[in-house]
Amino acid sequence: MIDRETVDRIYAAANIVDIIGDYVTLKRKGVNYQACCPFHNEKTPSFVVSPSKGVYKCFGCGKGGNAVTFLMEHENITYPEALKMVAKRYGIEVREKELSEEEIRRNDDRESMFVLNGWAAEYFANYLHRETEGQSVGLAYFRQARGLTDATIRKFGLGFCPAKGDRMSKDALAAGYKKEFLLSTGLSLARERDGSLYDRFRDRVIFPVHNISGRVVAFGGRTLRTDKTVAKYQNSPESEIYSKKRELYGLYFAKRAIQQQDFAIMVEGYLDVISMHQAGIENVVASSGTSLTTEQIRLLGRFTKNITVIYDGDSAGIHASLRGIDMILKEGMNVRVVLLPEPEDPDSFARSHTASEVQAYIRDHERDFLEFKANLLLQDAEGDPIRKAALIGDMVQSIAQIPDPIQRSVYVKECARIMDIDENILISEVARKRLTTSGDREADEFLRRQAAQRQREAAQPEVEYVRKVEAGSGFEALEREIVKYLLKYGHCSFDFKEGRTMVACNVAEVVFDELGRDNIVFRNPVYAKIMETYRGQWERLGTGTEVPAHCFLNHIDPEVCNASVDILTSDDNYVPSQLWRRKEIHVESDAEMLAVGVPKAVTLYKSKVVEEMIKELQAKLGDESLPEEEQVALLQRLSGLNKVKVSIARRLQRLIL
Ligand code: CTP
Ligand code: MN
Repeated sequence: MIDRETVDRIYAAANIVDIIGDYVTLKRKGVNYQACCPFHNEKTPSFVVSPSKGVYKCFGCGKGGNAVTFLMEHENITYPEALKMVAKRYGIEVREKELSEEEIRRNDDRESMFVLNGWAAEYFANYLHRETEGQSVGLAYFRQARGLTDATIRKFGLGFCPAKGDRMSKDALAAGYKKEFLLSTGLSLARERDGSLYDRFRDRVIFPVHNISGRVVAFGGRTLRTDKTVAKYQNSPESEIYSKKRELYGLYFAKRAIQQQDFAIMVEGYLDVISMHQAGIENVVASSGTSLTTEQIRLLGRFTKNITVIYDGDSAGIHASLRGIDMILKEGMNVRVVLLPEPEDPDSFARSHTASEVQAYIRDHERDFLEFKANLLLQDAEGDPIRKAALIGDMVQSIAQIPDPIQRSVYVKECARIMDIDENILISEVARKRLTTSGDREADEFLRRQAAQRQREAAQPEVEYVRKVEAGSGFEALEREIVKYLLKYGHCSFDFKEGRTMVACNVAEVVFDELGRDNIVFRNPVYAKIMETYRGQWERLGTGTEVPAHCFLNHIDPEVCNASVDILTSDDNYVPSQLWRRKEIHVESDAEMLAVGVPKAVTLYKSKVVEEMIKELQAKLGDESLPEEEQVALLQRLSGLNKVKVSIARRLQRLIL
């Protein structure tokens, strides 16, 4: 933990134009700076930096934040890492919370392993390029057998481990590296007979595995022998710094391209990634032979929601891997599939085609995963009704994974069409599946409504219902609106008509009086934090004083920084050149707008809270095992709440009219 004081000093020193200027070319535009957004592809600049506020905002893709959260986003690093980066730049000493001895030792061990892996990667690369054995065996293989250029070989840090069984281990020990870390990284193994070390990767070409920030966490070694008794690949074991299921091979080299193109290509092996890169396609990562894990998908999800999986034309594993892809759907990703023409794999295909040919092939042949799966299963089930029934269950299973209800209903339509079955049947099957597997409340409600609907025999299409249920409660939108009033106008006043008299009201006062009286805390944790921060400042400064924006824009919690940038720069009828123009221009109309908007938002929010409480109480009352006196107490509270509800409803009606 970096302490609050240091964080403040870092923010005070950070010059956002300098920092962002390292990554994009900023052009001065009045008091602000403009550029093409580094987070999405665009031709006309909609990325704006305000040096006076210390924030940036892209009006194309919506990303926004301060200098530190920009680094987090762009470098894909954590908040503390980004803070340290800025601190280093401005020579600020970072004091961190004291670590326990155990934590210090673990950190030291991890660091030692990283350092050793870094040394080993260099050792293997030097051996490949400089030693006769490396050149004649390893380098010749990469160049001739795999068609790699020297630039590619260097970029991925490829290497060779000597055939002599313990040469690397001996050289490492001689260079001063400890046996302990040679063993914990898995670079060396200990002989049973005397505990002496030998090389795990002896006589193999080496693929270093980089983590997201470019440090070597593991190695893959491929034998060049055709002898079937030798395993083709040897990989580093799991360790303090390497968890196979948390890394994706090539991500470090691919992350920028993935972000820019907003999609990632997934292949199987080391050489598939490398050959694609060499062909000029850089948004490629590999799962390294194992089936994908949730951790890997989430890692990728930080860069894009769109994944295209490439299968070899003859890939026997397609059926087996279909299940694995359900998991990608569950994480809310869009998955597409490309089959290569037999007998190509991504490696051979990339070597025999240009980048634009490969890209065109992907564009023309990629198919939506669920459509692909439906067609594939349908082929299998041709003319066999029992298998067709099973396949519907299979599709339902996949569709039910998709978290977004709108996307789900699109898939339902599409699948019903492909498989030629009644859409309504598919809708309720998916709802049932969601209910049983994830206890989805929407699905529950949907099924209940559907049953009621059947009884009434009304002829409304069921999709209508799905949409109604989706509309959701709107808590979050109202919370955002209230926060917006506070951040933009918290210190302002407006006249409110109370019966016949006009009362002067202050925005912050109205908000905190109304919500505070009932101890209402916002559900969205980020908005709740903004409220809490505002309240603290308001109590300190007094009503009517503007709370400085930097309290939110440079908040200790980066999510608060980004949310407040977003809110402060969201203008319903926004014009880029007028960004952050002073608000005073429309003082009168502002006051009128506040007089309508603030009481309405607060009252509407309260009415939702009360409704929710009533629902909860009713649910509790449904429990028949409840002792009678508790039931009576609950009923009394319920009637109290119903009165509140009626009075709020009256107020709302007045406000809306
Ligand atoms: N793999 C592994 N261990 C194995 C086999 C495979 O870790 N025993 C991983 C490697 O990451 C490999 C990927 O699975 O890159 C795909 O395996 P495979 O298709 O057999 O290897 P390729 O990379 O295609 O190697 P090559 O083209 O040289 O045969
Ligand atoms: Mn291959």
